[in-house]
Amino acid sequence: MLVGSRSHILVVEDEPIIADADRRQKEFIANASHELRTPVAALQGTLENLVDGVGTPNRATLGRMLAQSEQLGRLVNQLLDLSRLEAGADRLSTEELDLGDLLHGLARDFRLTHPTSQIEVKAPRGLRTVGDREQVTRVLTNVIGNALRFSPIDAPITIVASRLNGSVRMAVRDAGPGIPFEQRSKVFERFWQADGTPTGGGGAGLGLAISKAIVDRHGGEILIIDNQPNGACVVVTLPAIS
Ligand SMILES: Nc1ncnc2c1ncn2[C@@H]1O[C@H](COP(=O)(O)OP(=O)(O)O)[C@@H](O)[C@H]1O
Ligand SMILES: [Mg+2]
Repeated sequence: MLVGSRSHILVVEDEPIIADADRRQKEFIANASHELRTPVAALQGTLENLVDGVGTPNRATLGRMLAQSEQLGRLVNQLLDLSRLEAGADRLSTEELDLGDLLHGLARDFRLTHPTSQIEVKAPRGLRTVGDREQVTRVLTNVIGNALRFSPIDAPITIVASRLNGSVRMAVRDAGPGIPFEQRSKVFERFWQADGTPTGGGGAGLGLAISKAIVDRHGGEILIIDNQPNGACVVVTLPAIS
């Protein structure tokens, strides 16, 4: 009797949670289908024209088709990675990583691909964690890539790493529009992008969802905090080893 009434109460209390999960799942499928349909439709349209003899299969047309299929491939890979990470399906490699080295190396790579940008790194060597090099690199690449994309061209982005309470804390700051308080948890949702987000150079809004799944798997944390006087500050924390 008691058990019955308890489970009844539980079911009632769980309903909004289940409804919310169901809504999120439906939203995700709708968003994913929409994102996949766009490059498929473009590719199909161009191919139909070629088959009908409306267009000519020259370098420019083939180049566009290649770009569309690459976009499609990237999206499918990101979706697969995200579902594997969230399900904990594949094993992450566990090697010792020097996060200072990693950040300096990434900054060097970004300076080559973004020669007009200024990237300042304050990260001593010896800030170590245990984790999957490729996946941790992926998180930092996405966060730094976002900072560069949103920051004005003449404003430096800064990356500061330090040891704090048994963790390595890495803060990436930019001088862009920032992320308003009410959007700070939304940015980690799959496919979420702020209104007016420039599409060039960015993805489909999966980068931070993937980053969060990776950081969670490493027992760390990723969050957005205030930046002064403006811009965004993304903090990634990973467990430190001595
Ligand atoms: N540094 C930043 N400054 C302002 N907005 C940001 C920043 N980083 C992320 N965002 C917001 O969060 C959204 C999601 O980021 P992300 O998941 O990396 O997707 P994407 O880079 O594909 O747009 C971005 O589209 C943007 O609206
Ligand atoms: Mg991104």
